[in-house]
Amino acid sequence: MTSTPGRLAVYPGSFDPITRGHEDLIRRSLAFVDRVVVAVAVNVSKQPLFTLDERVALIRQAVQEPRVEVKAFDGLLVDFAATVGATVIVRGLRAVSDFEYEFQMALMNRNLAPRLETVFLVPAFDLTYLSSSLVREVARFGGDVSALVHPAVQQALRKKFGK
Ligand code: PNS
Repeated sequence: MTSTPGRLAVYPGSFDPITRGHEDLIRRSLAFVDRVVVAVAVNVSKQPLFTLDERVALIRQAVQEPRVEVKAFDGLLVDFAATVGATVIVRGLRAVSDFEYEFQMALMNRNLAPRLETVFLVPAFDLTYLSSSLVREVARFGGDVSALVHPAVQQALRKKFGK
């Protein structure tokens, strides 16, 4: 895919917290779009570990790149994408287990906004089995997550769990 001037992607998620896997996908997205808006969902289904403000702040610390903006969003993703002028939704596909949920979401988003295209990216090999929930679980029990998250995130996890 060639880059068109001003092409904007939205990369939505809970980011509870951002991991090296998310950072990798943001970097990969910048290879084919000009700017990425990381869209942090206000309403996540489960009670998040980090508040919305904390999740946004940690992404800003982990991704210091002028072509990346971090914004919170509430309501439908397609409405948020239209507001910021995004033409692409970026999602990561790690394993077969992700596929059904992602496929369902992509088709529903297409149904709601036919011109908004979902692009699935494959993460780096060593980050394929990484998820925020695994990071939270390992950190909760005092395990080493230094290779999996930015140092600012590691510190925030330590503070949260008092480890
Ligand atoms: O990282 P996650 O938790 O898998 O992200 C899911 C997210 C936030 C991208 C998804 O739940 C979402 O887009 N929520 C916004 C509400 C919406 O538009 N729902 C319809 C999508 S089918």
